Order: sequence, then C-alpha cells, then structure tokens
Amino acid sequence: MALDSHAKNAPEHVAIIMDGNGRWAQSRGKPRLFGHHAGARRVREVVEACPDLGVKYLTIFAFSTENWKRTQVEVAGLMSLFRRYITKEARALKDEGVRVRFIGDRVRLDHKLQTLMDELEQLTEHNDRVHLTIALNYGGRDEVARATKRLAQDVAAGKVDPETVDGETLARYLDTHVLPDPDLVIRTSGEARISNFLLWQSAYAEYEFIDTMWPDFSAEVFGNVIAGYCKRDRRYGGVRA
Ligand code: FPP
Repeated sequence: MALDSHAKNAPEHVAIIMDGNGRWAQSRGKPRLFGHHAGARRVREVVEACPDLGVKYLTIFAFSTENWKRTQVEVAGLMSLFRRYITKEARALKDEGVRVRFIGDRVRLDHKLQTLMDELEQLTEHNDRVHLTIALNYGGRDEVARATKRLAQDVAAGKVDPETVDGETLARYLDTHVLPDPDLVIRTSGEARISNFLLWQSAYAEYEFIDTMWPDFSAEVFGNVIAGYCKRDRRYGGVRA
C-alpha cells in the first residue's frame, strides 16, 4: 500500500539491512550470487518509492567489514556486482534526482571500484530528491574507531581542545557526518540482530524486523513497513506529550 504523499510523520531517514539473498537463492536451487543479483534489482524499486513515502534519506547495507569472511567466489562476485551496478545505474540515478554517497572504509576495495564510487558521488552531488547512502566495507565499530583516530590526531595537533569533546564532536568525524540519524532501521529475512550497522547513529531509531527475504522486498512491502512506523509513538527517553 502507498501512504499519502509526504505523510507528516513519515521517517525522514530509513536504513535497511538487506538480508536473505543467499537463502532466497538456495531455496530455488540456485547459487547464492543469483540471490545477490535479484537483490540488486530491488534496490532501484525501493529508491524510487522513497519520495512518495516521504523518505528523504535511504541508507542500505551492501557489504560489511565482516563479509570478507565469505568464500572468495562470493566476495569476488559481490565486488563485480557493485562495479556493474554503479556502471549500469549511474545515469538513471542522476536523472532521477538521487544523490549517492558511500560510507565505510574504501581502502580495502579495489581501485576500479573506488574510482567508480568517487565518480558516482561527483555525478550526483547536486541532486536532492532522494539521498541514497550505500554502506560498502562498512562496520559500525570500525567507523567509530576510524573517527576516534582522526579526532585524536586533531587533539594531538592542537586543533581540538579535549575539554570540548562531546557526542556531537565525535559525530562530526563519522562517515555519516552529513546525514541525519536514521528514524527507522529495517532488517529483512527474519533475523533480529543489527550486525554492526550504524551503531552510533541508531541510538534512538525504531527497528522493524520482517520475515520477507530481500529479493522479495517490493515497494508495496516497503509502504506497509512505513505505514506501521507512522503509528508508532517515539519518545526519545521522555514521556508521552
Ligand atoms: C545479505 O544476504 C546480503 C548481502 C551481504 C549483500 C547485500 C547486497 C545486495 C542486496 C546486492 C546489491 C546491492 C547494491 C548496492 C547493488 P545474505 O547473503 O547474508 O543472505 P543469507 O542470510 O540468506 O545468507
């Protein structure tokens, strides 16, 4: 179902842990990468649904710092999928007003992929209809550790007074420093864990764990999850007004 356009209490920022590609493929007797390709095709549909649902920021977890533990075949297949996705989708993303950003540690990614990521960020930097952030080689603890290292370097260089350091200071060093915190985190595939995703930023997020496997996550399913969120009462540690 669709919501009224730009519903008043729609989440401004939705983050999604796209889980279940492997099981979805295996249940069809196919290799896991078949599921990742089907999952990649869902990304466009979900991004396109955002404006009507009132969602301005969408952040998706594409590859975690822990995903390197998968087989070499699966890791190589995913990296090739990311390169192809960026190459194939760049023009449509630009034309549809999507601003793309990447978060995560790029250093371990191959140079070709890093270049494609930089180019897509530049190509879409003036867009403002939907802000799509793709987490690639991303881990919440790794992000906080990298941020802390840079903050410590600035303290050591005399650029930051340690007495002034608070949560907002640290947030400015995170990969997500230009994004609002997520209002809603969705995980597909029936698993109820957060797997090191946006640990700092999700302190007050609402969570929705749904059974749908990511390749089956349609715009309609997305609309239903958002409608459920709109009924929630968020108090941020306070009491009902
Ligand atoms: C989790 O499913 C999914 C991933 C580790 C990869 C997510 C990647 C995509 C959806 C591909 C497209 C993304 C972009 C941006 C092009 P899983 O493999 O852990 O599934 P399982 O739990 O059933 O094994």
